Amino acid sequence: MRRKLVAGNWKMNGSRKNAQALVEAVKQGAARLKHVETVLCPPFVYLSEVGAQLAGSAILLGAQNLCDKTEGAYTGEVAGTMLRDVGCSYVIVGHSERRSLYGETDELVALKVAAALGAGLKPILCLGETLQEREQNITEAVAARQLDAVLKTVGVEGLAQGVVAYEPVWAIGTGRTASPAQAQEVHAYLRRRIAAHNATIAGEIRILYGGSVKADNAAELFAMPDIDGGLIGGASLHAGQFLAICQAAE
Ligand code: 13P
Repeated sequence: MRRKLVAGNWKMNGSRKNAQALVEAVKQGAARLKHVETVLCPPFVYLSEVGAQLAGSAILLGAQNLCDKTEGAYTGEVAGTMLRDVGCSYVIVGHSERRSLYGETDELVALKVAAALGAGLKPILCLGETLQEREQNITEAVAARQLDAVLKTVGVEGLAQGVVAYEPVWAIGTGRTASPAQAQEVHAYLRRRIAAHNATIAGEIRILYGGSVKADNAAELFAMPDIDGGLIGGASLHAGQFLAICQAAE
């Protein structure tokens, strides 16, 4: 039985003050949750404070990115060990915004997954097709290419240490969610592809869905057999919305 996971990706939003209020509200509401695993991924600069605020709660801390290198002269970068140091358990890797806006290639994403594992972090590996790729009917080929780059670098045992998040680019921040059936199809495909390497791991690894998940569509998405929770952007900035999504995963 795979435990459902709901992670909030705040992206580059908020301030110190509203981060504090948001965490407080999420913490209060999440105290009722017994089954779902909950993760908050604030911007780097707020990690320490949010981590301190989460101490004693069951909510885990995650970062939104990390450097593929372990330390040294990499101005502006943050190492996995530093994220561990401030209390992170998870780190988002290869988000489509990193891939498209900051030029992260499949190979770099794979190196970042390796760096996360090396630091003892659980990577949340994001992958998914653009609208153009979906219209060209190459959704599976794109997902396969993105997944295979990581499998080639860290192996299926490495992948098993983290979580996969299917995030169709056309559904991110657009209010246009993949239908449960559309998402399920890709999730099942990813699981089959992982099963070709190791069926046990494929059965155990969690595959999250991300892309305009809201309180009113979360339950039908999470009811699909291969959807093990969500990676939530916009709705994670509102405690009520985020908690309702967590409740749907319960
Ligand atoms: P939205 O939920 O805002 O569509 O963002 C999804 C996402 O990119 C989570 O990483």
